[in-house]
Amino acid sequence: MRKVRTVSRIQETAPAAAEKEKSSPRHRERNPVLEAAVSSLESHHLSSFHFFTDALEIASFGRNLLSWYEEHKRDLPWRKQASAESNLNRRAYAVWVSEVMLQQTQVATVINYYNRWMKKWPTLEALAEASLEEVNQMWAGLGYYARGKRLHQAAQQVVSRLDGEMPRTAAELQKLLPGVGRYTAGAIASIAYGQATGVVDGNVIRVLCRVRSIGADSDSPAVRSALWTLADALVDPARPGDFNQALMELGALLCTPKAPLCAECPVRSHCRTYRLLQVQKEGDSAFQRLRGKAALESESLSDIEECVTAAGTCPLCLPSTALWDSSLGVKNFPRKSVKQQPREVQTLTCVLERWGVRGEPEYLLTQRPSSGLLAGMWEFPSLLSEAQLSAEEQEQALAEHLAAVTGQTGAVRGLRYIGEVVHMFSHLRQTSQVYSLSLSNAGSTAAMQHEARWVSRAELQQAAVSSAVKKIFKMYESRNCGKQEKMKTGKRKRSPGTGSIKPELDRQLSLLRFFKPATK
Ligand code: ADE
Repeated sequence: MRKVRTVSRIQETAPAAAEKEKSSPRHRERNPVLEAAVSSLESHHLSSFHFFTDALEIASFGRNLLSWYEEHKRDLPWRKQASAESNLNRRAYAVWVSEVMLQQTQVATVINYYNRWMKKWPTLEALAEASLEEVNQMWAGLGYYARGKRLHQAAQQVVSRLDGEMPRTAAELQKLLPGVGRYTAGAIASIAYGQATGVVDGNVIRVLCRVRSIGADSDSPAVRSALWTLADALVDPARPGDFNQALMELGALLCTPKAPLCAECPVRSHCRTYRLLQVQKEGDSAFQRLRGKAALESESLSDIEECVTAAGTCPLCLPSTALWDSSLGVKNFPRKSVKQQPREVQTLTCVLERWGVRGEPEYLLTQRPSSGLLAGMWEFPSLLSEAQLSAEEQEQALAEHLAAVTGQTGAVRGLRYIGEVVHMFSHLRQTSQVYSLSLSNAGSTAAMQHEARWVSRAELQQAAVSSAVKKIFKMYESRNCGKQEKMKTGKRKRSPGTGSIKPELDRQLSLLRFFKPATK
């Protein structure tokens, strides 16, 4: 059984400012959320080391965080929109759109999309009337396309089934709106309606795991549940929307994954991990005593923090099998489970070009099925392939596919190899072998399958296509000046720079710059 000495020592360091609050009426009141959290801790035999159980400390945490937020918050369009809008349905819709876009996408990328979206569809009703094609077109380049589709479907349901009235609580939002999970419901309810409910997103996970030294797998049910309990206990009932946004902002600006700025953090005095590191740095004698037993590098933080549970093992602590890396400091938290490797997918793709009647080149796009990955999006004619096809086999398979798409067999000759494009989707890594082919006018007017269309370069920029398609087209255009040759051996000669476009090097921003957003 571990001792509790370090824990109680840290609790003694709670900010003196909190003391002043002791006599404040607000903190003499009962706090049912906190009481429920404490009783839940007890019933689950969890240590209070990972929670906040003192109303004074919670109040101090909120005050520090909110005053920092007032000074440092970013000027973001959805924040303005939410504070300026008095109609609750419109306000909830404005928050909803931003929160869906912000899931898995950087703030800087979202701003432009958000402004264009709200201009085109300022209300739920306007969005409900849009077609899925328009939604996909607007979402093109933002990734995770199912988000836009689900937002559109849910808006249609609010209009058709709820008479255009957004549900007014987090529980109802989650229950009644398809695709709205606990996070989105909590964000809408707190920001748009002022409901005192917490939120847990990637930023909040990082902040809270650090603040309360939660080192168990942050995807585990025990940690997730603890984080929601923490978020609900911490949220400021007077300003829940600001509090939640401030916690996320702290994660985005200071408590970052790779370069946390602890010295500037407004809640560092409440941060168990920061305190532990301070104690360590200061050569605290209690810490030194603990340290003496083994080299620090081989000790897990759970040994250091001495978290005690009834069972003797804590489901929130760094497991004894995991090492505390002292060079990482607070970056030891959160600890993530080892991610599953993404599925590998190979495709053969062709940029098929013709000289159009409008006196400019046109490119053939085909539409993906209405369900599954990139549902309803447009792409260059593509087919899945096995990894180990020879060049000849690739060309034959692609030629057959093109003949089927365009309805003309004779014209599909002279495929030119362009290169390889690698693109990461959420759970798969797609490698495309890209070819090009120019069709003569005469041949290219034959009847086509209805889910295919010819588009100009400008139309391609506006179309509902993924970033993978944009990458392919960018490579096609850059290669188009130089000729690709096939060596006599059948092996391809690659011009300098030809080869995989590695996803980590291929920045979405440069693509967005290349395909300037539509200005409708
Ligand atoms: N991330 C997601 N939603 C956010 C918000 N409203 N403020 C700051 N960061 C966020």
